[in-house]
Amino acid sequence: MEQALLAWFGAQDADLPWRRTRDPYAILVSEVMLQQTQVSRVVPRYEAWLERWPDVQALATASPAHVIREWQGLGYNRRGLNLHRAARAIAAQGWPDDLTELPGVGPYTAAAVRAFALGEAVLPRDTNVLRIEERTGHRFDPSCGQALMDLGRTVCLARVPRCDECPLAERCPSRGRRYEPLRKQSRFEGSFRQRRSAMLRLIAESPRPLEELDGEAVEALERDGLVATANGTVRLPA
Ligand code: ADE
Repeated sequence: MEQALLAWFGAQDADLPWRRTRDPYAILVSEVMLQQTQVSRVVPRYEAWLERWPDVQALATASPAHVIREWQGLGYNRRGLNLHRAARAIAAQGWPDDLTELPGVGPYTAAAVRAFALGEAVLPRDTNVLRIEERTGHRFDPSCGQALMDLGRTVCLARVPRCDECPLAERCPSRGRRYEPLRKQSRFEGSFRQRRSAMLRLIAESPRPLEELDGEAVEALERDGLVATANGTVRLPA
């Protein structure tokens, strides 16, 4: 299985900017951005981020307000704030042995940094990798991380996999199957997430009086540390 997959990957290998580095900070930035945002949308934002804050020290000295503004449009803004908190923790204490001690870093992201930056023999299992392992009934070895992510993104799709293009099809017991959507991403339009996002966008433009804003959404943003209210004015945290 590994051989067939890696041969396919060798011919396809997407030239993604985070695959040209082994800098743990750069890999961490890419993986946090990729957690809930598509590769094509992440590429330009990753490049801009690293140009602005090329290392942990640079990010650690940035203000939360600048970080929140730079994150705008990537969605799930807490991720940006957590990345900033992680940079401050690393700048102060160095990288922890257990990367999941960093804010916003779970087992998947920790494994991705260990594999792609530190070269450790671990296979980071995101939803794509787990799906391929479940369908094939095969546990892949750690050399296959990037290849599995590309296969999951372009061929072994969640609902209608492209088995006719798949290097693993011959040995895949699930070949030709179709799948019901397990969990549709909930609609953004009209959601509370959209209300939060709209408020954060306004406040990032300039401080606003609380009374002009959607109070419930602002309260949720405040709980996450994304905005701060003082004397009836809401602004990004300094
Ligand atoms: N999704 C999450 N991590 C990824 C990576 N390193 N390359 C491509 N897609 C990914």
